[in-house]
Amino acid sequence: MATDERRFPPHQLSTSTERRGLRILPGLLSVTLLAIGSSTVAHASAPSLDHLRCEYKVDPIGIDSPQPRLSWQLRSDERGVVQTAYRVQVASDRGAWEEEAILWDTGKVASSRSIHVAYEGPALESAGRYSWRVRAWDEDGLASEWSAPAHWEMGLLRPEDWQARWISPAGEEDTSKPQPAPMLRGAFTIDGYVESARVYVTSLGLYELEINGRRVGDQVFTPGWTSYGERLQYQTYDVTDLLRRGRNVVGATLGDGWYRGYMGWKDARNVYGDELALLLELRATDEDGRVQIVGTDETWKAATGPILHSDIYMGEAYDAQLERSGWSAPGYDDGDWASVRVVDRSKDILIAPAGPPVRRINVIRPVEIIKTPAGETVVDMGQNMVGWVRLKVLGVEGSTITLRHAEVLDKDGNLYVDNLRSATQLVTYTLMGGVDEIYEPHFTFQGFRYVAVDGYPAGRLTLDSLTGIAIHSDMPRTGRFKTSNPLLNQLQHNIEWGQKGNFLDVPTDCPQRDERLGWTGDAQVFARTAACNMDVACFFTKWLGDLAADQGDDGSVPSVVPDVLSRDGRFSGGSAAWGDAAVVIPWTMYLSYGDTRVLENQYESMKAWVEYMRRHAGEDSLWNTGHHYGDWLAFASTASDYPGATTGKDLIATAFFAHSTDLLRRTAEVLGRTEDAAEYGALLPRIKAAFQKEFVTAAGRVGENTQTAYVLALQFDLLPEELRLQAARRLAAEVRTRGHLTTGFVGTPYLCHVLSRYGELDLAYQLLNRQEYPSWLYPVTQGATTIWERWDGQRPDGSCQDVGMNSFNHYAYGASGEWMYRVVAGLEIDPEEPGYRHVLIQPQPGGGLTSAEARLETPYGEASSAWALLEDDRFQVSAVVPANTRATVRLPGAILSEVTEGDHTVTSAPGVRAVEQQTGAVVVEVGSGRYQFGYPAGDLVNHLRPVGPSE
Ligand code: BGC
Repeated sequence: MATDERRFPPHQLSTSTERRGLRILPGLLSVTLLAIGSSTVAHASAPSLDHLRCEYKVDPIGIDSPQPRLSWQLRSDERGVVQTAYRVQVASDRGAWEEEAILWDTGKVASSRSIHVAYEGPALESAGRYSWRVRAWDEDGLASEWSAPAHWEMGLLRPEDWQARWISPAGEEDTSKPQPAPMLRGAFTIDGYVESARVYVTSLGLYELEINGRRVGDQVFTPGWTSYGERLQYQTYDVTDLLRRGRNVVGATLGDGWYRGYMGWKDARNVYGDELALLLELRATDEDGRVQIVGTDETWKAATGPILHSDIYMGEAYDAQLERSGWSAPGYDDGDWASVRVVDRSKDILIAPAGPPVRRINVIRPVEIIKTPAGETVVDMGQNMVGWVRLKVLGVEGSTITLRHAEVLDKDGNLYVDNLRSATQLVTYTLMGGVDEIYEPHFTFQGFRYVAVDGYPAGRLTLDSLTGIAIHSDMPRTGRFKTSNPLLNQLQHNIEWGQKGNFLDVPTDCPQRDERLGWTGDAQVFARTAACNMDVACFFTKWLGDLAADQGDDGSVPSVVPDVLSRDGRFSGGSAAWGDAAVVIPWTMYLSYGDTRVLENQYESMKAWVEYMRRHAGEDSLWNTGHHYGDWLAFASTASDYPGATTGKDLIATAFFAHSTDLLRRTAEVLGRTEDAAEYGALLPRIKAAFQKEFVTAAGRVGENTQTAYVLALQFDLLPEELRLQAARRLAAEVRTRGHLTTGFVGTPYLCHVLSRYGELDLAYQLLNRQEYPSWLYPVTQGATTIWERWDGQRPDGSCQDVGMNSFNHYAYGASGEWMYRVVAGLEIDPEEPGYRHVLIQPQPGGGLTSAEARLETPYGEASSAWALLEDDRFQVSAVVPANTRATVRLPGAILSEVTEGDHTVTSAPGVRAVEQQTGAVVVEVGSGRYQFGYPAGDLVNHLRPVGPSE
């Protein structure tokens, strides 16, 4: 039977440059092959199948991919489990699995593929609902049972499928400033018994939806933020349980949102338009299959209510006395409501959301109420968070409570809001009075840890009065990283919270000041770390669609996506390391999830960006023109003889030109675009040569001798082989001279990677463990709960950095997270078999740690790499390898004859397929399963003794 499962003999272990670079010190390539163990595992029972996903989602409704991809996972307690064949069946939802209902049956396909199997049956119908199931065969030919069925449902696929019409509230508004939020109301009668019902809805601006007095769904910030001129998402909701026979009412409240609220600094508003609008279609199906369609039209009514204004940056003013009780239910008298206008807005740009919705994810209980020296009453949430406060109050009618939000307290302990710039983050609530009131804001979010409360009924404020609601894109948490060092664990916590706070439908730079924009450079540097922590595949798939949509005809990529900064004929973008998001992120998604469709979809965009660079670099392949951000926020000093670490912008630009060209070449290879692969394969050495000629001396010095210059040159393999080690030594010397890192956004993600790759693991650990400014742990020692924008956002004396740009929740420097997963714990991807199809488990212990562990829910199931120094000075490596994958485990410092796996010698352990002694390590090939290797720690112990605070 044909299968693409391959067994890799040990001599193939050092074929991939990336693998070689990360695992083995240069010059210490694989040596003696002492033993090859090979144990076939006889399987007693077939694996079972679960974790069925369609386009990464569980039973999605309202998708629009014409060929949704199906994935499943094999489960087995046994080792060495692989799939050798599968069979998928897709049926129309009614009558599944009767023969006539089956639309697509793959038959038994000899393949080990268990993720991203694209549907290839008859065309899928608008609003069609489908069931699917799968079974699989293992290596022994044992067949699983059919999986439990899963489902998906299509959205409205064509513009003409929409019968509803766009409506806007009639009447004049002064859109030069925030306006009361319009409420729109539509009433209708349902004739029959509702068997199932869907609402398809979108808006210009944000919407919140109610039916018959009940909230529809749990998503917030709908319809999400896309490049509104070209792509507008609609949501699909199952509203079967909200409807009843007879009279029904739909109510929608609209907010300014990204569409017409303040956006980008400089008081800009109405970036996409100045008129809010709603498009909603309800389809109710009765037991006989008759479909009744109701949509927005001229019969709807409009009014305003309690939301006096609500703006993403500015906060919200809410007057509960203006609530219109019962407005979204039948029986309410809307006699004084105004009419609406049917407006002509595009339905051609409607798309189903590819990414996860934004939801309320965490409830945060405050830890303390503080009276500040300035007399403010401040509630400390204990966590710098993004979202809002849920307020509980019983008080006097008409009194107003004010909530001011800040990330830090200043050096005197007072609320610090200067770094918010023009974003006021101010929420006011005017009480109905006399009853318990609970309130949450609607179309605004705040970045904050501290809330100053004014006007709360005297003496009544307790920790129960305020609750933090953290919101973000609902990405499944897939990764965990922990070590024996609590400070590093806090750093990991801070990285995760930086991600939570800034993955709010688009990857933003920060969540608090008047920015909150999809800065491409920030996303580019953080994407791999993001994929270690959470499943970001569809989050980035969606955003990359916007990136391509906003890309210039000349291939230039905007600085922010969606692009709200290019205005009035002025373009903002085309910058090195920022524009490279177009190439680096699709490639990162491919590596992390084995997703080739994202490469296909983005291919033209990737290529256009590389071509843009090629044009600007010109004949000599040196990109030294245009506007660049450089190594943003690199270390700066006031010393007269060392103003800081400025890496030339032309060096950075040319380095990224090479890097993206290389990734494009590899992408072309993956996609079978051989001509392009050859084309970019030929371009790459020309760029490297240009780089070397301009920036590299014969003695291995790169650029101005900055850390970032070396890091880029070495990470992207831009130097001739013979100079690499010298350059690495120079980098190490520079780090030692400074005693700390000097990299900015661009160099930071790779710094530790390059050091550990070139034999300077201890130095990398020193940087990671350093606690003084500048370092990753300095903010941790200052009590940070998120990653700061600047290495010294707040100084030891409590004073704050430049008010012009000082966010306390900026994930870019948190890009060190991937080094912790990939090197400290050692859970790595093989680029030749991405998506963890071939897991590399290659811990590099050090830095005084006595244990480290990375766990990751990969597309195939959980993989993990954990190591520990045990009390008897034995070293232990635990590996979890998901079914239908295999792993290469590198045991540092091991001597083959001393290695055990469980109760066996490693060569006789079940599931172990090959073993090799290399210089300084034993390398073991295993099939899926859980393994525990042990051996005397030997010399490793010297790297694993706890170090003092500042080493
Ligand atoms: C943002 C950054 C961004 C930078 C580029 C800043 O204001 O916060 O993170 O990448 O601008 O200029």
